[in-house]
Amino acid sequence: HPRVLSGMQPSADSLHLGNYLGALVNWVKVQEDFEAYYFIPDLHAITVAQDPADLTKRTRVAAAQYIAAGIDPERSTLFVQSHIPEHTQLTWILTCLTGMGEAARMTQFKDKSAREGTDATGVGLFTYPMLMAADILLYQPHGVPVGDDQRQHIELTRTLAQRFNHRYGETFVVPVGFYPETGARIYDLQEPTSKMSKSAVSPNGLINILDEPKVTAKRIKSAVTDAGTEVSYDRENKPGVSNLLDIYASVTDRSVEQLVADYEGKMYGHLKVDLAEAVTQRLEPVRTRALELLDDPAELDRILALGAEKARSVAAPVLDEVYQKTGFLPVG
Ligand code: TYM
Repeated sequence: HPRVLSGMQPSADSLHLGNYLGALVNWVKVQEDFEAYYFIPDLHAITVAQDPADLTKRTRVAAAQYIAAGIDPERSTLFVQSHIPEHTQLTWILTCLTGMGEAARMTQFKDKSAREGTDATGVGLFTYPMLMAADILLYQPHGVPVGDDQRQHIELTRTLAQRFNHRYGETFVVPVGFYPETGARIYDLQEPTSKMSKSAVSPNGLINILDEPKVTAKRIKSAVTDAGTEVSYDRENKPGVSNLLDIYASVTDRSVEQLVADYEGKMYGHLKVDLAEAVTQRLEPVRTRALELLDDPAELDRILALGAEKARSVAAPVLDEVYQKTGFLPVG
């Protein structure tokens, strides 16, 4: 079976609707046809300061949400990044293949350092994309199911794989991004021109998987909409309503065109009430299951330990090959 691999940072108390629709739903789908590796990038999370106790808790919370959303740990390999030392080992080699300018052009680093200065921006954020490339390349996946905001990272991963292969001989599979047809880019409910993100200015812009349904319903009902009253899809001029339509299409089987036709002549309020119902219905079983799983942290840890063993059995021989091709003297 060809492989897929992906991960989500454990840097908030819950995953949000963007994570769910942009990535997780697709992960569940592709695990049917691919040998899947899903991990929790805790090393990436510390590129921004994390409270240690929170980080531990959020790592389990992420694992619980993966499983609750439908990742089957019997079928797919579920693990924690820091359990596999090969990720950091390969990162160094890829870092040595990356140009300073090339890394400085990555938008995550570029934007933060432009905003806050290069002293307030950690070197960890600078080398973040090389760690992500290592995460991927160690498992030789064909596809990486992610949302739209990861495109630049996937491009760099491909470049580094090709560069290594060119310099040292065929080693890495050059992966492609798998982007969903709907939900690849979910926007903030209060600021519908910014993507939904855990670093949102106001919590009211976010829909979290683990929030109580009434909180979620309230946030959807108070989402910013646009001038006018007509429900129509127009990203430029009606970003608020267009975002609600995208979310609606993603959580149901209805297309945006169908929804626009269904809401013709109706007010925004109707759309919001129905959308709140559709979203909470969709998330409620995931939330309940995740909370149940979190009642038994020892069981979650056991699943992650088994996953680490399986993941390491794939990653270790790939790193060995890389070390050998690089010319490092083997241990005698
Ligand atoms: P992260 O943790 O920011 O996001 C996890 C996944 O959720 C998607 N996503 C969204 N999709 C649609 N709309 C949004 N508003 C939205 N916000 C987030 C992301 O595209 C992503 O798929 N660098 C990665 C984590 C990572 C990784 C990897 C991913 C580390 N190593 C290896 C894949 C393979 C990140 O920060 O994602």
